[in-house]
Amino acid sequence: MTTTFEQMWADLAPVGRSSRTGGYFRQPFTAADDEAQAWFLGECARRDLRVERDGFGNVVAWWDSGGQAGGPGLLTGSHLDSVLDGGAYDGPLGVVSALAAVDVLRDRGVVPDRPLGIGVFREEEGSRFPLACLGSRLATGTTSWDEAKGLRDRDGVAVADVMDGPQGDPGDDRAGSALLAGVGTFVELHVEQGRDLVDRGAAIGVATGIWPHGRYRFDFTGEPNHAGTTRMEDRHDPMLTYAMTVLAANKQARLSGQRATFGRVAVRPNGTNAVPAEVTAWLDARASSTVDLMALVAEVERMAVDRAGRDGTDVVVTPESVTAEVVLDVELGGRIAAAHGWPLVPTAAGHDAGILSSAGIPSAMLFVRNPTGISHSPQESASVADCLAGVEALADTLALLTSGGRP
Ligand code: GLV
Ligand code: MN
Ligand code: MN
Repeated sequence: MTTTFEQMWADLAPVGRSSRTGGYFRQPFTAADDEAQAWFLGECARRDLRVERDGFGNVVAWWDSGGQAGGPGLLTGSHLDSVLDGGAYDGPLGVVSALAAVDVLRDRGVVPDRPLGIGVFREEEGSRFPLACLGSRLATGTTSWDEAKGLRDRDGVAVADVMDGPQGDPGDDRAGSALLAGVGTFVELHVEQGRDLVDRGAAIGVATGIWPHGRYRFDFTGEPNHAGTTRMEDRHDPMLTYAMTVLAANKQARLSGQRATFGRVAVRPNGTNAVPAEVTAWLDARASSTVDLMALVAEVERMAVDRAGRDGTDVVVTPESVTAEVVLDVELGGRIAAAHGWPLVPTAAGHDAGILSSAGIPSAMLFVRNPTGISHSPQESASVADCLAGVEALADTLALLTSGGRP
């Protein structure tokens, strides 16, 4: 017996949820993520889907419908990992909707004439390791195992350690992933992470592209000293340089119509009564074009260095995860949108669809309306009616792209 969208949503809801905030902590290769993956595999088993994995923690579950020629596969799906204290919908909505859409197609008697798969990519958010979309980058070969294996989380645990660990998938060839070898098209359904669809009064939209974006680590160093006895004019305080950099980044982004966020900071030694020795902070920068992104980051760095000169501190900037602009397949997106008159909307959020698209797999995205536009937060939401509309929209889109259609 298959499970309804609502039942699947209820089953997945407690996995990795904080009782304190109601937000989700589904970091990759942790117990919560493992439980979410197990839930997915259970739902695949209920539907007799054939599961393939790669050595990087990614999974594709194929529907062998019997009506298929060997043609290029049509992939849908998304991710199950979350940001720290994230919402319920970012990622899981695309996975649960994909399973429900397969049920809808079967109920409609659709027999796809090409393999139809549901993919779950690992560590889309880059919430544990410094590289966003780690799983899809490895699956597409955009990032090599050699580049990825030494990346470390906040506790110093390396990618290679977790992928070989209890939650990993040891034994596979890490030279590359064959998981996407048969995939010709990818359609990812995702909760909208803004208010474009609310403003347009539409439950469903189709993405046009993804803004270029990146993460940049700022290491500020100064002179650790006593908070009481050190005269203000004698200090070399990296916190001061950091604080000014945050303000400068915000101002620069507002002036240029782009986005700049410092959402993560680490202080050493992090004591109340001492001028700190080091402040490490991460800038998340996004812009409507690559030129604008580079200009924004360069200007923030220039102002940080200038201020460090005046504070007697040092600052070093290191890019950690930079994703180029993505223009999703215009013909594909246009065809999907035209079928129902869905609006075309851009986004400044990163997605696995962007990675697959950049790797040469024609990709499209469906967005489901988010009433507040809030995302990467426990307050993220979507109505049940819109989620169910999303399932129908995804089923319609998959049917459109499997030309065999109804029997
Ligand atoms: C992923 O959701 C991102 O845009 O950071
Ligand atoms: Mn996402
Ligand atoms: Mn996200």
